Amino acid sequence: MFACSDIIFYDTLANLSISLPVDNNPKVCYSLIVKTKDLLGLKELTADEIGEILDLSAEMKQLLLSGHKKSTRMAGKNVAHAFYEPSTRTAVSFDEAAKILGAVSCGMSVANSAAAKKGENLMDTAKVLSAMKFDVIVIRHQSAGAPHFIAKHVTASVVNAGDGRNEHPTQALLDMLTMKERFGKLKGLKVAIVGDVKNSRVARSNIYGLSKMGAEIRIACPDTLLFSGSDDMSKNYSVKFFTNPEDAVRDADVVMALRLQLERMSGGLVPSIAEYHTLYGVDDRLLSFAKKDCLVMHPGPVNRGVELATSVMDSERSLIDDQVTSGVAVRMAVLTLLTGCKEVRP
Ligand code: MLT
Repeated sequence: MFACSDIIFYDTLANLSISLPVDNNPKVCYSLIVKTKDLLGLKELTADEIGEILDLSAEMKQLLLSGHKKSTRMAGKNVAHAFYEPSTRTAVSFDEAAKILGAVSCGMSVANSAAAKKGENLMDTAKVLSAMKFDVIVIRHQSAGAPHFIAKHVTASVVNAGDGRNEHPTQALLDMLTMKERFGKLKGLKVAIVGDVKNSRVARSNIYGLSKMGAEIRIACPDTLLFSGSDDMSKNYSVKFFTNPEDAVRDADVVMALRLQLERMSGGLVPSIAEYHTLYGVDDRLLSFAKKDCLVMHPGPVNRGVELATSVMDSERSLIDDQVTSGVAVRMAVLTLLTGCKEVRP
């Protein structure tokens, strides 16, 4: 994707130096392309920018898989994590990524924060974090646009870790990294996304990202779980919408199931959980319409037996664990790129 993927990549990970194919200038840095202060969504990124993040993420994943988990790459930097909604994978992996890279990583306990208990508004909380001289603020918030609003007012880099129903860029990046590693490409892949699309920021970010990278996306959901604006979406991105999941998964390389986001539903959008599973649950019968070696993904947390049949979730087809590992790598890459800690250090 870019010249820097061919550099000699040295790191101070416990005396590790990984040699990748050399280009003419081993001092060339990453981030030839990603120049933004913040990562707020994939809608705003170009295919080249997404490609650069995926290239660096793949290298970070190699480090992780080789067992090297100590770097000074982000030494002297600090990262604040402000999660206004529950999270396991995203919160822990951002924290893990920052710590592996040698940054100071500070979680803010939102439940006990001045915001929750003493009436402080989001902007004022963000200003406090900015005055504490954090280099990066990772934020998850129930309101779409909250990270964008903060990013305009603070000098720190802001990373959107999920804003309402809008976007979850690092989730889509880790999904793309996982697919790219399995198939060697994203271009031309047929990806079916099945489930609660209306409430899913994961679906939106994947539509933007995968479409920009040349994949073909098919969405299957009941009419009640489709977002408004799907017609415009089909005009601008490579995505088609179906109500029958068999049509969406036909010949698919990947089937991605989405969680039923009951916490964002005011009620009555699915007749019953059991009926939802019968019609839209990803099971062996539904997968028989996809390609024979089709792989299965889910952003987690999974409602076992609802979005995914247990037999599918525990099968060889499932990439769920690999998605989680990719998540740490992607977050390492994003933090590295945004804080400019990417010089090649011999
Ligand atoms: C999210 O935060 O959107 C998750 O990664 C997916 C989910 O909660 O279903």
